[in-house]
Amino acid sequence: MWDDPLAMNVRKKESVMTTNNPREHKVYGTQGLQDGKNMPGLLRAIRKEFPRVGVDASGRTRIFFENAAGSLVLQRAVEAESKARRDFFPNVGEASWESRMNENTILEGRKAVSDFLNASSEDCIVSGESATSLLFQISYALSKELPQDGNVVTTEYEHYANISPWTELERRGIVKEVRFATFNADDGMLDMQHFASLLDRKTQVVAVTGVSNGLGSKTPLNEVFRFAQEIGAYTILDAVHMAPHVPIDVSRLECDFAVFSAYKLFSRRGSFMYGRRDLLERTKPYKVEPSPNHPPAKWEMGTRDQALFASIAAVIDYLSWLGQEVQNQVSDRVFEYSGRRRLLKAALTWIEEYERTLSEAMLYGTKGHPGMLGMKGVQVYGLKDESRIHLRTPTFSFDIAGVELKKVAEHMWIKHGVVVIADDFYSRALRTYGKPLAIRASLVHCNTIQEVETFLAGLAETVRHFGAG
Ligand SMILES: Cc1ncc(COP(=O)(O)O)c(C=O)c1O
Repeated sequence: MWDDPLAMNVRKKESVMTTNNPREHKVYGTQGLQDGKNMPGLLRAIRKEFPRVGVDASGRTRIFFENAAGSLVLQRAVEAESKARRDFFPNVGEASWESRMNENTILEGRKAVSDFLNASSEDCIVSGESATSLLFQISYALSKELPQDGNVVTTEYEHYANISPWTELERRGIVKEVRFATFNADDGMLDMQHFASLLDRKTQVVAVTGVSNGLGSKTPLNEVFRFAQEIGAYTILDAVHMAPHVPIDVSRLECDFAVFSAYKLFSRRGSFMYGRRDLLERTKPYKVEPSPNHPPAKWEMGTRDQALFASIAAVIDYLSWLGQEVQNQVSDRVFEYSGRRRLLKAALTWIEEYERTLSEAMLYGTKGHPGMLGMKGVQVYGLKDESRIHLRTPTFSFDIAGVELKKVAEHMWIKHGVVVIADDFYSRALRTYGKPLAIRASLVHCNTIQEVETFLAGLAETVRHFGAG
């Protein structure tokens, strides 16, 4: 018999919440969440939405800390997907009720994504197979607009999905150069001076990730895009790692394109793109002749999968519910939005704050559990400074000196039931540290301090086990 991790978690959490220890209050220190009754109740309700949050399908109790490669999935997203696949299978454009329901599912999915991103209209929302394929679509369409002597500016902590589409243009002689803005190796933050120095009047495209999937660093997007817009460059946001952690507002950012993946946002494989309406209209993506000449259909290759739209709409439903629950706690930061957009911004604002407490616990520990920074032999990459913790997501890459990292990930799984990965994450960031691999622990808002403590205890034992501490 496995223990019910949810019940365990709530029991332990309740005992933690009654303590007067200041560190523990700090861990739960999000304003409005210090109430010992609210926090476990809300977290319990959140975790109920994720059927595999604590126990995998084989029945093993485990802690899932590898959300960056594909997050835990919402039950309502799974149900909506399967209903749409089963009930609305006929294609669009037929006379039947089922066909119209298919069309409606796709439209509602677009509206949901449009609200999530605060886009001007659902017609600006394009779906695709993956973020990678959408970024290649964008680079292909823009390539026809670019003069041949231009450059593209991106960052050293990008995922290759937002590098290769641009180096491909370089290889084909369509752009002259792809430039990489460095980040500070100590704190993982983009070097804004270096970034600004790379821009010139030949910069045609600025393509950056909102959050590094390797380091968890948040890019100062307002500043980056302001610089880019001043010189008239196209602005591309890779929001794949940002979407589950940070509110996104494409209208405020005034970015030209933004891309995220549903499977990193509690849903299934498949991705979405926002494109500025006039650009979607003007540019020429790959397209079959008879397909419509207007967006979004113009940008979508082949038949859409209604189940993807149903699934993402269910995610947005869940986030709206969460927004409803927490909106009073964050109302001062979401007042300029209304309706569902406001609820979604409230949910993500709350998530961002709650996740900060997870980051603090991971780095500095909790009572009785030293954090990663206190573990001899463990080198954490990225931001570690407590006063700037809000500039990172709870995505931690680290090294253990002299140990084969794949073995560490295996040991964490076999001995401690903790899922982390040893990989390069297709991120360019590790080049800066001269390392081919790192271990990554990536958390989302349905993870808990209790899980962090189990992870920390497991990691401490693992370091000892390999004689690295
Ligand atoms: C920041 C970032 N961008 C792009 C991608 C690629 O996403 P997809 O697998 O949907 O192509 C990933 C996937 O890990 C990512 O983390």
